[in-house]
Amino acid sequence: MGRSVSLVAHAKLNLALAVVGKRDDGYHELRSVFATIALSDDVRVAVHRRLEVRNSVKVSDEIAARAVTALAAANGHEPHAFVRIRKRIPIAAGLGGGSSDAAAVLRGLASLWKVDADLVKVAADVGSDVPFFASGSAVALVSGRGERVKPLRTPTDPLFAVVLRPTLRLATKDVFAAYKPEERGAAAHVDAIATAFERGVVTPDLLRVHAANDLLAAATRRCEAIASWQATAAARGVALFLTGSGPTLFAIADDRPDALRVGRILRRAGLRAHAYQLAV
Ligand code: C5P
Repeated sequence: MGRSVSLVAHAKLNLALAVVGKRDDGYHELRSVFATIALSDDVRVAVHRRLEVRNSVKVSDEIAARAVTALAAANGHEPHAFVRIRKRIPIAAGLGGGSSDAAAVLRGLASLWKVDADLVKVAADVGSDVPFFASGSAVALVSGRGERVKPLRTPTDPLFAVVLRPTLRLATKDVFAAYKPEERGAAAHVDAIATAFERGVVTPDLLRVHAANDLLAAATRRCEAIASWQATAAARGVALFLTGSGPTLFAIADDRPDALRVGRILRRAGLRAHAYQLAV
């Protein structure tokens, strides 16, 4: 094996997510504020004589391999690399773990191959959430199928979320298939959050007011546990929101001590909650 680089691949939360239409290719047009969180996979990329991907968790579709192929195709390289992924981000959860790993592969391989490619553009061919991670932004307004990424200002005061580590998996495809156009309504909330980041006036209260997700009803139809997790938390005064197509839920905390407090409340109620800083 040849030269190698090690990368950190963060998870994301969709602070708000709107479905704004359906495209001719069957994909949905989205508008969403993405933020990274301090939960990450470790990705090592090395120069190699063939394509080899080792993942600490078995996944059905290895998106990291597609990242190698896409960058190679864009630059006339052989699609050869060694990739090792140590997973901590739950898979098929709405946390963007696979997409973040793929973006890390693009960044790592671009530096090993010394290619000056537009990684956000290459990323769009790999998967819908990959351009956000390839952009390197901590917070961004993402639109289209995910290929348009507008970086937003990172907040000066740290923000914290409490994330329920999922015990179930939910396929993005199934949730979009269950989605009904009349369930849309989050677009104005997405814009309110994006504008607040841009102006540097984001507060936990503002995030809690606008943390809408148009896929919530569809995700709940596919995974009824979402409604019961929300009810359990609500009975203890904690509002839980959906990230991506779920089933992961999150709460927005006032600050670090509040995140630890909310985490304890949810764990005592039997939920697997962990506090993480946002926009890292
Ligand atoms: O992009 P990814 O392959 O993760 O998406 C999985 C499936 O989810 C797609 O095949 C599509 O059915 C649906 N999807 C969608 N609109 C998006 C993203 C995903 O309809 N913007």
